[in-house]
Amino acid sequence: MRGWIIPPPKGPAKSRQEFEQKRTAKVGWLVRHGYLKSERIKQALLKVPREDFIPRLYRDYAYLEVPLPLPGEHATISCPHSYPLFYEPLGLDQGHRFLEVGLGSGYGTAVAREIVGPGGVVVSVEIDPVTLEFARRNLQKAGYTDVVLARGDGGLGYPEKSPYDSIAVTAACIEIPPPLIEQLRLGGRLIAPVLEGGAQNLTLLEKDITGIERHILCEVLYVSLRGIYGS
Ligand SMILES: C[S@@+](CC[C@H](N)C(=O)[O-])C[C@H]1O[C@@H](n2cnc3c(N)ncnc32)[C@H](O)[C@@H]1O
Repeated sequence: MRGWIIPPPKGPAKSRQEFEQKRTAKVGWLVRHGYLKSERIKQALLKVPREDFIPRLYRDYAYLEVPLPLPGEHATISCPHSYPLFYEPLGLDQGHRFLEVGLGSGYGTAVAREIVGPGGVVVSVEIDPVTLEFARRNLQKAGYTDVVLARGDGGLGYPEKSPYDSIAVTAACIEIPPPLIEQLRLGGRLIAPVLEGGAQNLTLLEKDITGIERHILCEVLYVSLRGIYGS
């Protein structure tokens, strides 16, 4: 698989109205291409201003299908299609307790907050302190204060708020970290890019009373997970 080509940094020129048009057009594109199906995820993507989670010099590219660099080491905001790509198979829904490993820009956290609604819980763990502060500021400015942000190795999860209905790992791992499987409730789902034979397979794991089921969904390209379960 090829790497991503990042567009050159440049001063922001787009207006709020232009971003809104781009956002609506992107959501239409995601529906037409089969990434986006659920009405709740659609409404969340229409609501959260992705441009507000992107560093100033890349802001105008907010709705391009490329990951963009963030402050910190090897951190990126994932491409727009990544969010329904992860959240649809998870079945992320109203009232879920959701754990994100890899906060990045905070955009995925904000989208999840909109999806789970006031009855749900959103926790995100970030290993890089610079990236964490960037995301914290973005989320505060955008009004998403009702999320738990933690600094640490997300491979260890966040047991304080477990069990979770849904867990998304947004960096590539060699194996799905066992603590995350432990912190998933029975009936819960976890999604993660897993390195296998040089490729990254987006893997959906379902935990139920009979055990763990795994399904490979597609090939993806993510930054490597750091920490104990890093690749
Ligand atoms: C692709 S980015 C996440 C994109 C993010 N979900 C967003 O919406 O912007 C992956 C993130 O995972 C973080 N990361 C890598 N290893 C980690 C670990 N062990 N624990 C927590 N965060 C980790 C990176 O620092 C990076 O910010």
